[in-house]
Amino acid sequence: MTKLKWGMIGGGEGSQIGPAHRLGALADGHFEFAAGALDHRPDAGRDYAKRLGIAADRAYGDWTEMLAGERGRADRVDLVTVATPNATHFEITKAFLEAGFNVLCEKPMTMTVEEGEEIVRVVKATGRICAVNYCYSAYPMVRQARAMVKAGEMGRIRLIVTNFSHGHHGDAANADNPRVRWRYDPAVAGVSGQFADCGIHALHMASFICNDEVETLSADFASTIASRTLEDDAMVNFRMAGGTVGRLWTSSVAIGRQHGFDIQVFGETGGLRWASEQPNQLMYTPVNGRTQIIEKGESGLHADAQRLSRVSIAHPEGFPLAVANIYCDLADAIRGEVRDGLPRAEDGLRSMAAVHAAVASAKAGGLWTDARPPLFR
Ligand code: NAI
Repeated sequence: MTKLKWGMIGGGEGSQIGPAHRLGALADGHFEFAAGALDHRPDAGRDYAKRLGIAADRAYGDWTEMLAGERGRADRVDLVTVATPNATHFEITKAFLEAGFNVLCEKPMTMTVEEGEEIVRVVKATGRICAVNYCYSAYPMVRQARAMVKAGEMGRIRLIVTNFSHGHHGDAANADNPRVRWRYDPAVAGVSGQFADCGIHALHMASFICNDEVETLSADFASTIASRTLEDDAMVNFRMAGGTVGRLWTSSVAIGRQHGFDIQVFGETGGLRWASEQPNQLMYTPVNGRTQIIEKGESGLHADAQRLSRVSIAHPEGFPLAVANIYCDLADAIRGEVRDGLPRAEDGLRSMAAVHAAVASAKAGGLWTDARPPLFR
């Protein structure tokens, strides 16, 4: 099988998410790293790309140069990852889709609902793939949870409780660090800080596991560090189309919590619990029964969980391999084999609608607000 060609924009040296994309894209041999515009500083981006083994003529200074360079090549990249800060996602993603490239865009996909709808329209018009990196949904044990719910093993889902709360932006003395500051700067991050940064992973996960969509929500936002205009803590109650009740807490000032992403699913006939800090285990409790630990790599898993487990039971597979699972599903999609679960532009749009609904709700004192994008109402 010939390798697909992969390029990345952003994810430069020292960035948070860049290494996970490189490890993920290259883990299974589906892609070769062929092109990049990796940094907002053109020279630093070119230099880093060359050090990573990209040919000098494909180590670009910025994304417009990359678009111009790649679109004319017979061996142009098959997939472009957009791993820049939020405000640039829409412009870059739209331009590459329109030029006929497949895109994996970091979350949040856009800054506004209208931009999200535009990306969905461009995907339809071009027939290209636009995935969004909700990578936690690609952990094998999360796929197992989704499959168990789909198979009816939990009964109707009554309640979902999820948190994505860490404490890494809790030091007020470090609030001006540029790596932290942009996440609370409306010009770069958008209308929401922590909810758009981490909360949407949890909200996507709730939809993903329940196979259902968030319909309405009520939000309470707080900026606990005075210099921040955007929220660093949010509590969001939501209701799903199928009637499931949802509770979500997200925070970046929860000092003592590390990654802090977990989800509990309470159905009529059982409960599930998954936590990103122990991603290889899924806790399952049947009604009136004992709690069991379902392990990645054990026999009897649902097919999707089995497919995405690489090493045998009890050997940890962590975050970069969850990202790699997104790239595996993307490689299959590019080659024409559609897999269940790959997060798409529609998911990115739903998140954007939820972000804007949460902001409006918080401003209105927690008013219950329609969280669906107008396109899907
Ligand atoms: P970062 O600030 O650590 O790194 C950003 C990188 O992008 C830097 O290398 C910077 O030089 C480069 N860059 C900025 N503007 C650019 C431009 N116009 N062209 C080319 N390169 C440019 O940011 P981080 O944390 O890596 O976040 C990047 C994106 O990834 C954000 O949208 C964020 O929300 C998302 N993210 C997603 C995660 C996930 O779990 N899916 C986890 C962390 C971040």
